[in-house]
Amino acid sequence: MPTTGSGRRAPTGQGTRARERAALDAARDGLAFVTPEVLAANVVERAPDGILVVDGAGRIAFVNHQTEIMFGWTRDELVGQTVEVLISGSHQTSHARVRQAYHDRPNVRPMGVGLDLAGVRRDGSEFPVEISLSPLETPLGRLTIAQVRDISERRAAERRMRRVEQQLATVEERERIARDLHDTVIQRLFAVGLSLQATLPRMENEALASRVETAIIEIDETIRDIRTAIFGLSMGSRRRASLRAEIIEIASDAARTLGFEPRVRFTGLVDTTIDAGVHDELVPTIREALSNVARHARAHQVEIDLELGHGRLTLRVTDDGVGLARDGPAVVPARPGGQGLRNMAERADRLGGTFVIDTQPSGGAAIVWSVPCSV
Ligand SMILES: Nc1ncnc2c1ncn2[C@@H]1O[C@H](COP(=O)(O)OP(=O)(O)OP(=O)(O)O)[C@@H](O)[C@H]1O
Ligand SMILES: [Mg+2]
Repeated sequence: MPTTGSGRRAPTGQGTRARERAALDAARDGLAFVTPEVLAANVVERAPDGILVVDGAGRIAFVNHQTEIMFGWTRDELVGQTVEVLISGSHQTSHARVRQAYHDRPNVRPMGVGLDLAGVRRDGSEFPVEISLSPLETPLGRLTIAQVRDISERRAAERRMRRVEQQLATVEERERIARDLHDTVIQRLFAVGLSLQATLPRMENEALASRVETAIIEIDETIRDIRTAIFGLSMGSRRRASLRAEIIEIASDAARTLGFEPRVRFTGLVDTTIDAGVHDELVPTIREALSNVARHARAHQVEIDLELGHGRLTLRVTDDGVGLARDGPAVVPARPGGQGLRNMAERADRLGGTFVIDTQPSGGAAIVWSVPCSV
């Protein structure tokens, strides 16, 4: 008795099972009119692999239809030829040796084990094949059944997979280097530059002061070179790296007017998923926010935080400056002033998002620009 009694089955499942069983019964009934010989011949003839029968001397005694298609020879042309006619020239000798050894000591050799060879078509073109062998004992001697599979597509897919893996490894490596350069090397150089700059006013020795000034200029130039390299690394990897690279570039550019390097933080798969529409509104928003910090905030630090999650892209730009004057509403678009904040609000609005600027409890200003962004 089957463990799943009919009483426990859902009615639809029961209906499906009954239909399946009826179809199977009909197929079995139909097969009753076919002899096992006809069935076997059809299975061989219609098999998706090439099937050949070869005698002890390697002569082809039988091929199925797929063998004709695969190699471009007709059945009549193939029968009687040695099987090496189907094997690429460079493999022919070794194949003949292996074939002889197999004939002397046959065993079933499953597809994909040991015999990866190149087949050769009638027109001389080659393709990778996998061959499995099994012996067939007859009263007149031992024959070999060879089953041949064209594995061109599998090989091509493997090659594609390897290429993608290599590209991914390169992209990740480039991104890691770009990140490390930005987060560590540039920040350190900036710190060195700043501390040198701080010592300048206290230097009484003119010659020494001018050497330190030269060193500061060189540090600035080095930082610019590294920024260019980072941009190249990120842009070179692929189009989707461009948003991250672009924001880092904008931040680095702003460092000139700010006097310090903004911190940039990305959370979520920012550059893999941002669509062009969002990108085009986001980039000018970041530029304007940084320009406002440089012009109005008198800040020592600014942080750009871009986060993608829960179907939204949120940009936060926070500074530790003077904050917003208390003479007006803190939330745009009601806030009077120039065009910048209004533009940011309109850009968010166009994408169905929100924009707020306010003074933080700690004193500086913070903008939060948030738009829907499907992942
Ligand atoms: N980070 C900030 N810190 C302090 N005040 C700010 C900050 N950002 C904006 N503000 C204030 O908000 C006002 C409006 O900013 P908005 O960007 O709209 O105009 P703007 O920068 O003065 O001129 P523009 O049209 O060139 O952008 C500013 O004039 C400034 O007083
Ligand atoms: Mg402005």
